[in-house]
Amino acid sequence: MTGSSCAARVGPGLTVAVTGPTGDIGKPFVRALEQSPAVGRVLAMARRPFDPASLGWSKTEYRRGDVLDRQAVDDLVADADAVVHLAFVVVEASDRSNDVNIDGSRNVFEATVAAGVPRLVYTSSVAAYGYHDHEGLLTEETPARGTDRHAYSRQKAAVERVLHDVLAGSATSAYVFRPCVVAGPDAPTLLDQLPYVRVEQALPAVLRRALVRVPLAKPVLPDHGVPIQLVHHDDVAAALLAGVLGAGEPGIYNLAGPGEVSLSDLADALGWYSVRVPRQAIGVAATALHRIPPLAVEAGWLEALRVPMLMDCSRARRELGWRPEHDARQTLHELVAAHRSGR
Ligand SMILES: NC(=O)c1ccc[n+]([C@@H]2O[C@H](COP(=O)([O-])OP(=O)(O)OC[C@H]3O[C@@H](n4cnc5c(N)ncnc54)[C@H](OP(=O)(O)O)[C@@H]3O)[C@@H](O)[C@H]2O)c1
Repeated sequence: MTGSSCAARVGPGLTVAVTGPTGDIGKPFVRALEQSPAVGRVLAMARRPFDPASLGWSKTEYRRGDVLDRQAVDDLVADADAVVHLAFVVVEASDRSNDVNIDGSRNVFEATVAAGVPRLVYTSSVAAYGYHDHEGLLTEETPARGTDRHAYSRQKAAVERVLHDVLAGSATSAYVFRPCVVAGPDAPTLLDQLPYVRVEQALPAVLRRALVRVPLAKPVLPDHGVPIQLVHHDDVAAALLAGVLGAGEPGIYNLAGPGEVSLSDLADALGWYSVRVPRQAIGVAATALHRIPPLAVEAGWLEALRVPMLMDCSRARRELGWRPEHDARQTLHELVAAHRSGR
């Protein structure tokens, strides 16, 4: 997965180029770069306007640009000691995101190699393994086959192959991270995507307050008994920083916090109801939704919950000295507390 390893240019004043710095992982990660004495300068790029000073970032220079624009990517990485590629279409992944996710990633990898940057950090995902009936825990040796009918999973597996091909024989080494669902106060996507939350957020505040007072209006989450791993955004940031600094060997690393949660735990934390349903019900629902094109994206994410996707993360602990500070329950509770407080 990695290119030939090369001497680390680690030291004070590293210049780190980051695509996708404004997302669920990007913000906590850039915060970690800002706090690291080894990092002197952060060059960050995404498409929408953003002011680094609004988050108190002082080392970060932000520019607007698209990973599909090769010149913009070349300019971003030209002076970098390490490149971190986070830009991706995640929740809305579909056939239409092949360009950003696959071609855009290829641009970043090729530009990094062409500029002779020694180190590349890429966040793949547990989804790269594919939502199959895996036996036991997923290790980094489990083939990353993806799931064809799930666009995000298919694209994550494809991008890892692109990375392998582009870096082969180059002087750039790669740290490839495969996080499970990332959550925490600054990574609200898990909650924001729940249908009830989406409807609730669209309501005027006065109606939202009224809804909270009507117990029967609380939503019900179906729990089919599949355990879910979570990883806190700050723990992901720490792992990515270890890659930037060249801790341990380049390679592939699973990332998940200790422990697991269920959809009933999520419902409890939110003060919602949950009801136990047979595991097959989720697969049946996903298959039915796949037949309705406008709902295919939702069907794909339902499918992601069909089977347990539990990873063994001992390699990151052993090689990188990664010590996640939050277990799955703490991460869930921090996420829900932030949601409740309106963050
Ligand atoms: N969040 C998770 O649970 C999770 C779990 C495992 C792996 N990952 C992976 O981690 C990476 C980051 O995820 P995330 O959750 O932080 O994503 P996110 O919250 O959706 O943020 C995506 C970032 O990419 C930027 N971006 C999107 N399209 C772009 C383009 N064409 N050119 C330049 N920038 C673009 C976005 O800003 P603009 O829209 O302004 O361009 C934003 O900064 C992704 O590769 C994702 O697959 C995430």
